[in-house]
Amino acid sequence: MRTSSHPIANMKLQLLSLPLLTFGVVVAYPSALEERADNFQSKCAAIGSKLKIKDATVYFSQFVEGGTNLDIPDYNVTCGAPNQFVPSDICRIGLFVATSKRSGINMEAWLPANWTGRFLSTGNGGVGGCIGYDDMAYTTSLGFASVGANNGHNGTGGGAFYNNPDVVADFAYRSLHTGVVVGKQISKTFYGKDHSKSYYLGCSTGGRQGFKEAQDFPEDFDGIVAGAPAVAFNNLSSWSGVFYTYTGPPTAATYVPTNLWPVIHADILKQCDSIDGYADGILEDPSLCKYDPTGLTCKSGQSSNCLTATQVNTVKKIFSPVYTDDGSLVYPRMQPGSEIVASFVYYNGQPFPYTEDWYRYAIYNDPTWDPATLDSDDMEYAARKNPSNIETWKGDLSAVKKRGTKIIHYHGLMDAIISSENSPRYYEHVSKTMGLSPQQLDSFYRFFRISGMGHCAGGDGAHAIGQSRSEVNSLDPSQNVLQAMVQWVEKGVAPETIVGTRWVDDTQSLGVDYQRAHCKYPKRNVYNGGDPKKIGSWKCV
Ligand SMILES: *[C@@H]1O[C@H](CO)[C@@H](O)[C@H](O)[C@H]1NC(C)=O
Ligand SMILES: *[C@@H]1O[C@H](CO)[C@@H](O)[C@H](O)[C@H]1NC(C)=O
Ligand SMILES: *[C@@H]1O[C@H](CO)[C@@H](O)[C@H](O)[C@H]1NC(C)=O
Ligand SMILES: *[C@@H]1O[C@H](CO)[C@@H](O)[C@H](O)[C@H]1NC(C)=O
Repeated sequence: MRTSSHPIANMKLQLLSLPLLTFGVVVAYPSALEERADNFQSKCAAIGSKLKIKDATVYFSQFVEGGTNLDIPDYNVTCGAPNQFVPSDICRIGLFVATSKRSGINMEAWLPANWTGRFLSTGNGGVGGCIGYDDMAYTTSLGFASVGANNGHNGTGGGAFYNNPDVVADFAYRSLHTGVVVGKQISKTFYGKDHSKSYYLGCSTGGRQGFKEAQDFPEDFDGIVAGAPAVAFNNLSSWSGVFYTYTGPPTAATYVPTNLWPVIHADILKQCDSIDGYADGILEDPSLCKYDPTGLTCKSGQSSNCLTATQVNTVKKIFSPVYTDDGSLVYPRMQPGSEIVASFVYYNGQPFPYTEDWYRYAIYNDPTWDPATLDSDDMEYAARKNPSNIETWKGDLSAVKKRGTKIIHYHGLMDAIISSENSPRYYEHVSKTMGLSPQQLDSFYRFFRISGMGHCAGGDGAHAIGQSRSEVNSLDPSQNVLQAMVQWVEKGVAPETIVGTRWVDDTQSLGVDYQRAHCKYPKRNVYNGGDPKKIGSWKCV
């Protein structure tokens, strides 16, 4: 990531020191740049009283100097550290917007001093209501006027859904859309003119929010970058809950201890790593991996690094799709490759908190519902109830296509929270619904599978594609998914691949280990000979 800079402050120093050195007198009047900076600050201080927004209460406006580690004392403790590094000068505005008599959003607009004319909305995560400050810091440093909202409630939990379907509606679609409408108005009032183009950047629940916008609010954005989308949301919540019913608690015979998952991972690599032509610990297309754990069954006398027959069965279930009793697909299987991380998330012998909260507070309105009892009837009920159409599964994207909006969809193939096999399923659903081949979809919707990327970030492979502030190797559009989107929208140049970067020891300061050009679906990467760390040694087929 770029280090913080204070361009205006630095220039000011240079300008002032020049006459000082040359003539030996202090220039008392401010330079043009200094005036401009003062102007920005006073404009920021005054914006609150200028905003006329329906149903809104403006809490504050605050100038934040680039390089500041901003204190956010009100940030819900479950959301993370109560501070945020802010790379560039911004005007920060905080407000509340009522969405009904019993619900509303807390949102912020961050308006950069060095504005490119572009608007951007960030998204959220999990079942939560945490403003995406880090994404706002990232995108304002690139000159976007950025907004973020709390999705209608605070914190990472879903307790606020209880007895309040309006809070659920905010979470399903209304918070994001409201934040965009209000944010554009704030930006216009502050800068005195309309934004040029409008963008979205989000992952996970944020990815789902991106597709919800594409499906139901096609006017909001010119470019949508949606990662690891939590689409088919009710079914995802059901799938996330089945692992506990497979493993049971750590005392159960069905439970597979955490220390065995690296053994299973190694066995998966043994069976599947060469399918892409090169064994480097990265599965370029895990959907081709039909993993069979039977070979890990304990031989007589063997007691470590092996599985009982019961545990083998648990592992088989984990890597199988989930169906209801009547045979309809709820959700595809977990893709092989992510199991070491997933063993701490899903296979840890505990109920998954988001499933528990979604079922208790949004589906059944019953805080005593027991996640150990999750079954086919529950799954069918949740899919049918589908509060505020949170499923986000509409296959007809013709409104955004017609408007000219572009969508970049990406999904990490080591995702331990949302199976990457659900993303092709949605892509195919759009293809079928609209009657468009992948080649035809290319004109507005492109999907990239990112090998070696975990859930939205991290992973064993070339996972840095500029999707968030800590995942930026370069601002070049070929290596940066957000800049690629800007280039597509504003210059009509669409990405064929997205180059991801692997840093040495996964540490940016140590430099680049290798890069890989991730392919556009339905293509997949295969090794084509030569140094596997070179992009050109791989080919999209
Ligand atoms: C403002 O942003 C542009 C890119 O949009 C960049 O080239 C320029 O250096 C920035 N200027 C300052 C003062 O940060
Ligand atoms: C959420 O937190 C904000 C402070 O960030 C506070 O003003 C607001 O009242 C809280 N909302 C709810 C619903 O608790
Ligand atoms: C913080 O988040 C948790 C979990 O979502 C929630 O239960 C709690 O009420 C929130 N606290 C405040 C002060 O909003
Ligand atoms: C969700 O699951 C139900 C079964 O509970 C199924 O009928 C439906 O097709 C599924 N929806 C999606 C989008 O997968």
